[in-house]
Amino acid sequence: MAAVGSAVGLGNIWRFPYICGKYGGGAFLIVYLLFVFLLGSVLMMSELVIGRRSRRTPISAYASLAPRRQRPLWIGFGVLCIITCFFILSQYLVLSGWTTGYVWHSVSGALASMGTDAGVIADFFRHFSTGGWSPVWFMVLFSILVLIVILGGVQKGVEMASKVLMPVLVLLILVLCVRSLTLPGSIRGVEYLFSPDFSKLTSEGILAALGQALFSLSVGMGVMVVYGSYLPADDRIFTTAMWITACDTLIALLAGLAVFPAVFSCGFDPAGGPGLVFCVLPNVFNTMGAAGAIFSVLFFLLLLVAALTSAISLLECLTACITDNGRLRRWQGAAIVFVLSTALGAVFTLSFSHLSGVKLAGLSLFDFIDRINSIYLPPLCALGTVLFFGWVMPEADIRAEFTNNGTVRLRLYGFIRFMARYVAPLALLVVIITGIGG
Ligand code: TRP
Repeated sequence: MAAVGSAVGLGNIWRFPYICGKYGGGAFLIVYLLFVFLLGSVLMMSELVIGRRSRRTPISAYASLAPRRQRPLWIGFGVLCIITCFFILSQYLVLSGWTTGYVWHSVSGALASMGTDAGVIADFFRHFSTGGWSPVWFMVLFSILVLIVILGGVQKGVEMASKVLMPVLVLLILVLCVRSLTLPGSIRGVEYLFSPDFSKLTSEGILAALGQALFSLSVGMGVMVVYGSYLPADDRIFTTAMWITACDTLIALLAGLAVFPAVFSCGFDPAGGPGLVFCVLPNVFNTMGAAGAIFSVLFFLLLLVAALTSAISLLECLTACITDNGRLRRWQGAAIVFVLSTALGAVFTLSFSHLSGVKLAGLSLFDFIDRINSIYLPPLCALGTVLFFGWVMPEADIRAEFTNNGTVRLRLYGFIRFMARYVAPLALLVVIITGIGG
């Protein structure tokens, strides 16, 4: 449940539906499902295997399973994974801070009072996001919530929070789906999402499908290594990985059904990212009359829960990593990660206001980290993970993990191994090369 919480995040709700529609609906969906179940799930299994076999956090996990000569290389790789987690967390905090702010503004009635003038609503978002320190305080509030869960420990914090929050998330998304699908004209949104248009499925769309598949499953950066290290010895890794993969995909599809039918029914154009959730959707809710205010609160709560469980997994991973050698206590590690990531998150939040003049490679700080976090680091980490799993880790260890030391059978083992050794590295190389080539 915690791993599903990690995977289900902002990416499912504001990114998946949009790119699915943009690149040909059903046509994109076929490619996406293939990537998710053939490649993403293999990465998921790789990380769970590495985590449970070593019972360590990324740096020491890779180092302990690698041959002695290669250890320095894999320690370096573990560090890269952790840096990636840290950057993703800092960027995630910005968007989570905005989400927290919008929960507040939907509860307070500020969003509902703006009517249906798209210009007014867009201005409100511009004001809010460029409003200096005010979005930062919302972000700090969000980080404190995450910190409290982490301080509770793995079982009483992370596990408990996931057991409560994930059912809430599913309930919220189902309520929103029912409302959205029963609006007049909602079928146009369903068509936008699912009716296949192969002419829109460009090579760019195929790359986007692979990128989204990896991002959405939170694989390739060590988070699932940490969660794998907490798995009981008799859990079946194959089944667990498939469940996580299937739940993540299902929730992405439900998110599409919760969002786009309503957008089309109310006569708006589809959009993705912050524009969708912070500008288009408030407008959609306001066209629904009095009940819209309630759906607005429910929607932003949904977004908050999705962001919370993902941020929890990132903070957990980082905390576990820096406390792995036993020198720091858990609360000390969590406090360090909290302070550093919140500080960096504040810098990125302020890059929309006080720090908007600061540029790196011609981009604002936020756009810069967005580029690093989407194009460069995650595919690189994912490539390292499958190479380690397919070529470096002793095969006996992998087999033992998949078969729970020979007590269960796995018919697909040969296929998984083939995917991990050949197909996944090649696919990731293509992503990395085209990403760097711009
Ligand atoms: N899967 C998350 C989402 O869909 C985003 C994400 C990517 C993530 N990598 C992660 C979350 C690592 C937690 C940990 O929004």
